[in-house]
Amino acid sequence: MMETSKKIFPTIGIIGGGQLGKMFIQKSSQWSVPVNILDRDASCPASVLANHHIVGSITDGNEIQKLADISDVLTWEIEHIEVDKLIELQQQGKTIIPNPEILKIIQDKGKQKLFYQNNNIPTAPFFIALNREEAKEKLTQTTFQKMAVKTCTGGYDGKGVFITDRNSILENPKIIPFDGELMVEEFVPCKTEIAVLVARNRKGELAVYPAIEMEFDPQSNLVSFLISPANMPLHLEQRAEQIALQCAEAFGSAGLFAVELFLSENDELLVNEIAPRPHNSAHHTIEGFYTSQYEQLLRVLLDLPLGSTHLKMPCAMINLIGPETGNGKYRLKYFNELNTLSGVYIHLYGKEESKPNRKLGHITIVQPSREKVLEITQKVRTLTEIEIL
Ligand SMILES: Nc1ncnc2c1ncn2[C@@H]1O[C@H](COP(=O)(O)OP(=O)(O)O)[C@@H](O)[C@H]1O
Ligand SMILES: [Mg+2]
Repeated sequence: MMETSKKIFPTIGIIGGGQLGKMFIQKSSQWSVPVNILDRDASCPASVLANHHIVGSITDGNEIQKLADISDVLTWEIEHIEVDKLIELQQQGKTIIPNPEILKIIQDKGKQKLFYQNNNIPTAPFFIALNREEAKEKLTQTTFQKMAVKTCTGGYDGKGVFITDRNSILENPKIIPFDGELMVEEFVPCKTEIAVLVARNRKGELAVYPAIEMEFDPQSNLVSFLISPANMPLHLEQRAEQIALQCAEAFGSAGLFAVELFLSENDELLVNEIAPRPHNSAHHTIEGFYTSQYEQLLRVLLDLPLGSTHLKMPCAMINLIGPETGNGKYRLKYFNELNTLSGVYIHLYGKEESKPNRKLGHITIVQPSREKVLEITQKVRTLTEIEIL
C-alpha cells in the first residue's frame, strides 16, 4: 500500500499516455501534482513528464491494477481501454473519474445513441444492426436517403465511419468497409459542427464552455481547424450550452465531457457523440481561455471548485498531421518562421515517427479579434508542412 498521509495532493493515474495525457501533466506539474501513466509505448508523448510510467497495455486489467496500486485517483485520456476492470476497481472503493459506467456506454456507439434517446437528448434518427445484411434489411423500414454507418465499437478519428446512400447499401451492403454491430444514422446536412465542453466537479457543480466551431477535413474526417468564439447566433449558442449541461446531468458523474454537436442546415442542434475526457477540439483552451480543459479536469480530480470558462481572447487551433506521403522521422519544416509570429503557439507531441494522418502536434493562434485570428491562421496554414527526414 502507498503512503498517503503527508501528501498535499492525491496522486493521479492516467490510463493512456498520448498528447492529451502530456498536456494534462504539463498543467499538473505547475502545481506539482504527481501523475502516473499507463501506456504500452515506452516513448509515448506523456512518458517524458510522468512521475511513473507503467509500460503496459491499456486493455490489460493487470496493468491497470498496477497503475491503481500507485495512484489515488484514476482517469483516462482514451476510450479504448479495459473498462470492466475499472468498474471492478470502483466497486472496491477506488476513486475513478468519470464513472467508468459512462465509458461503458460511450465505448459502444449504439449504446451511446440509446442513452441520448432515453434521456431526451436531441440526436439524429438511427437504428442498430447486428451486421451489414441486417443493416440493409432495417434500412428498408426507414426513409433515410443518406447515412453515416458507424462501427459500434473500436472506431476513432473518423476510422469506423462510412458515409453512404440508400441505393448503395440496398444494392450491395458489403460496400460498408466493416462488419459486426453497426449504428446507422441519418446523415445530417450541417452548417457547422461544434464542440461544447462541460465539467462537473465532485460536488456536482457544473461549468460549461462557449461553443467551439470545428472544421473537418473531408478526406480524413479529422478536425482540421477550430475557432472560438463560434460564429453562431446567441440563442443557438445558449441552446448548445443547455444541451451540454443536460448531457452532464444525465451522466450524473464528475468529469470533463466534450459534447460534439451538429448544427444542421435548419438550425437544429443534434448531439453526435461525447468524449468523456479532454478533447482534440479544445487544445486552444490552453492559451485562449482562463481555465484550460486540462486545468478544469485537474480541478475535478483534485475536488476543487471549477475555474472560469471564459475566453481570454479569440483563438484558433490547427492540427499538425503526418503527410500521406511517408513514414518515419520528421520535422516541422517552418518551425523558425512560425516562431516569428506573435500569438502563435506551437505544440509538438514528441511522437518519434510520422505516419499518414497521425496527429503530431498542433498550433494555437491567439489574436485580439476573430478577423485577426482568421488572418493569421491562413498564414500559419501555409507553414505547417511536416517534412519526412
Ligand atoms: N450523421 C452524420 N451526418 C453528417 N456527418 C456525420 C454524421 N456522422 C458522422 N459524420 C461526420 O463524420 C465525423 C466523424 O464521426 P464521429 O461519429 O464523430 O466519429 P469519431 O468517433 O471517429 O470521431 C463527424 O465529425 C462528422 O463530420
Ligand atoms: Mg467524433
